[in-house]
Amino acid sequence: MTHEVRAVVARSKGAPVALETVLVPDPGPGEALVRVQACGVCHTDLHYREGGINDDFPFLLGHEAAGVVESVGPDVTSVAPGDFVVLNWRAVCGECRSCRRGRPWYCFSTHNATQKMTLADGTVLSPALGIGAFAEKTLVAAGQCTKVDSRARPEAAGLLGCGVMAGLGAAMFTGEVGLGDSVAVFGCGGVGCAAVAGSVLAGASRVIAVDLDPKKLELALRFGASHTVNATADDPVEKVRELTGGNGADVCIEAVGNPKVMEQAFFARDLAGTLVQVGVPTPDMRIDLPMIEL
Ligand SMILES: NC(=O)c1ccc[n+]([C@@H]2O[C@H](COP(=O)([O-])OP(=O)(O)OC[C@H]3O[C@@H](n4cnc5c(N)ncnc54)[C@H](O)[C@@H]3O)[C@@H](O)[C@H]2O)c1
Ligand SMILES: [Zn+2]
Ligand SMILES: [Zn+2]
Repeated sequence: MTHEVRAVVARSKGAPVALETVLVPDPGPGEALVRVQACGVCHTDLHYREGGINDDFPFLLGHEAAGVVESVGPDVTSVAPGDFVVLNWRAVCGECRSCRRGRPWYCFSTHNATQKMTLADGTVLSPALGIGAFAEKTLVAAGQCTKVDSRARPEAAGLLGCGVMAGLGAAMFTGEVGLGDSVAVFGCGGVGCAAVAGSVLAGASRVIAVDLDPKKLELALRFGASHTVNATADDPVEKVRELTGGNGADVCIEAVGNPKVMEQAFFARDLAGTLVQVGVPTPDMRIDLPMIEL
């Protein structure tokens, strides 16, 4: 059986997205059909729409979601109909060279559904990050479903699927923020605020939030930032240095996806400090850095 659902589709570069009828096949081997209950709006969806990720239009957008498994393929045992799940775009394979090196977070062979979702005329859709959850139902690989406590609110649980995972992970794991460290987070959207929260959880002594928007800076304070810098009013590099005894932060996290901000984050580090890029650049973006500073 094919499911006819309403979904948000980006048909061509930069064009407004539209609600379209999308056809979703019943799950085959290794797949799960999920009734989406909530899906966050991550900046990466905008990158897709702008053609900044690749040119595989039309895209079925949305990738930060939670929902209930409606049906599963014949061989699927990891999840069952009725399970409340967060969708994750990195369904670790356990077999590729990175998984074998014990680094599943870099898995080079993550699973997506094998069958394709299409427009009503049969045009094959590219689901954003292999999820495509701005839709009433979506088809994913069963491994992309992570079962969570059904008491969690879908609109909160869904955020774990991308922004929270990315920001928290950037601070706690990639950046290895430690007890007493100073951290500067550039960009305080969903990802940046999660990086602020992750830095606080990791025991950072000061967490400096940088953004252009005062409302985002207020949000960052609610997530535990100790200081804020409005980059429209102050030079963020100078401000971060000033707030860290003139030295720069131990860990700087770029959560915008902008080469200028990446350079600011680079120069705002202390000597031998860590720079983490979590913002997604477009393929044409370049940075120019003095090697002596590395
Ligand atoms: N690596 C990953 O796994 C991953 C996951 C999710 C999102 N992302 C990427 O992370 C970035 C942030 O995503 P988001 O969903 O939080 O976006 P968002 O739009 O919610 O937030 C971006 C923030 O950056 C701020 N900003 C813009 N220009 C700035 C500048 N020059 N200086 C300081 N702040 C500036 C904006 O005001 C905004 O608050 C995007 O590039 C997104 O594609 C990466
Ligand atoms: Zn995302
Ligand atoms: Zn793998």
